[in-house]
Amino acid sequence: MMTTIPLSKRPRLSAAGLAVAAIAGVAFAQAPRPEAARAEAPKETRLERGKSLVEEVSRCQACHTPQLAAGSFDKANWMKGSTLVGIPAKPIEDWHQKAPDITSTSKLWANWKYEGFVAFLSTAKNPRGHKAGPPMPAYTLKAEDAEAMALYLKSLP
Ligand code: HEC
Repeated sequence: MMTTIPLSKRPRLSAAGLAVAAIAGVAFAQAPRPEAARAEAPKETRLERGKSLVEEVSRCQACHTPQLAAGSFDKANWMKGSTLVGIPAKPIEDWHQKAPDITSTSKLWANWKYEGFVAFLSTAKNPRGHKAGPPMPAYTLKAEDAEAMALYLKSLP
């Protein structure tokens, strides 16, 4: 006989969280926010900090880097943009199947520049004053985190 977990006891996931879980497993759906990384070694440089916030905490690569096989990223195209595999189980309005190139040589960087990226990561608004469409998470990070992350993205060829 199947047991049904009462709705109230089920873990709550946002629509975006569900979508994310649907496309790539739960690996990053519950990734901690960058604040969680604060307890790290004090000696790391801003660039190293940015790298770890981008790659280990936020896992931007999950959507912005093409995958060769499940869990294996195309390192030659790191953060060069990707088509997301899978679609949300339930339709989500304005769902975007493509995540753009966010490296320093991208069109986005040419248009937004460092300041635009910092603003986007700290206010969740792009230079046109809009939020990005799902499943792009809305980041409202502290200035120092947003700056470190933008610095790291700027270092990517
Ligand atoms: C769950 C998948 C996912 C993750 C994780 C993710 N992105 Fe995105 N991102 C997207 C998608 C899809 C878009 C396209 C959305 C759109 O065009 O509105 C996007 C768009 C963007 C854009 C352009 C937004 C615009 O308004 O044109 C930037 C910049 C960006 N992402 C940076 C990042 C950074 C930096 C991280 C990590 C801190 C990150 N993304 C993590 C999926 C993701």
